[in-house]
Amino acid sequence: MALVKAARVSDLPPGTLVEVMVNGEPYALCHVEGEFRALGGVCPHRGGPLGQGNLHQGRVVCPWHAWEFDSRTGENDYDPSCRVPVYPVTVQDGEVLIEVP
Ligand code: FES
Repeated sequence: MALVKAARVSDLPPGTLVEVMVNGEPYALCHVEGEFRALGGVCPHRGGPLGQGNLHQGRVVCPWHAWEFDSRTGENDYDPSCRVPVYPVTVQDGEVLIEVP
């Protein structure tokens, strides 16, 4: 695992969801409930870009067909066995870093 800079804290006010590219892979990075959280950026349904979706009650909503995933656990709200990976996030010197494989 490697800790990689993904965004500046100032670019992620509360309630923000963004797509970031790290080592050529997309991640969905959000600021929810006072925490920065990182999920895999590819929807397990049909590959929609989760980081380009919206936030709804702490869940990341896929922009393609509105499947929702808990931003903390990555679990789908209807089928918890369907999930996107989540990654540890660290804040350091005003930067948001993601621990990626
Ligand atoms: S691709 Fe995400 S809900 Fe269909």
